Amino acid sequence: MIGSMTDELLQTALAAREKAHAPYSKFKVGAAVRGENGQIFSGCNIENAAYPEGICAETAAIAAMVLAGESKIMEILVVGVSDRPVTPCGGCRQRIREFAGPHTPIHIANPDGVLETLTLEQLLPQSFGPDNLS
Ligand code: THU
Repeated sequence: MIGSMTDELLQTALAAREKAHAPYSKFKVGAAVRGENGQIFSGCNIENAAYPEGICAETAAIAAMVLAGESKIMEILVVGVSDRPVTPCGGCRQRIREFAGPHTPIHIANPDGVLETLTLEQLLPQSFGPDNLS
């Protein structure tokens, strides 16, 4: 049984996943982030005929959050359908890193619920971030 806050993230990410533009991989992904004020922003993967130009669901969700003026990820959920949990790719881990802290929860889900929750530190140890630039 997962909390209603997390369930809200899952339902939002699932709705976003329905909008995925994934004609090449057929692998639809949805993501939802909760910003500092509690609002949820979602995204889906958007592929492109020029394959490398596609973007991940997490990237789209983060873009929506930033567009709304938010700059902190409180938690993030990724949902896909696969034999293995759909964890964020390396590039998206770094994009999450920009707006999250080491203990920020990253929920990995399938349509039935959250499979596991990891921290950013677990997914991207010893990461490079804004502080490294000072
Ligand atoms: N994808 C995501 O959107 N997020 C992930 O966490 C993993 C992969 C997308 C990228 C591409 O459109 C498709 O899934 C197959 O890699």
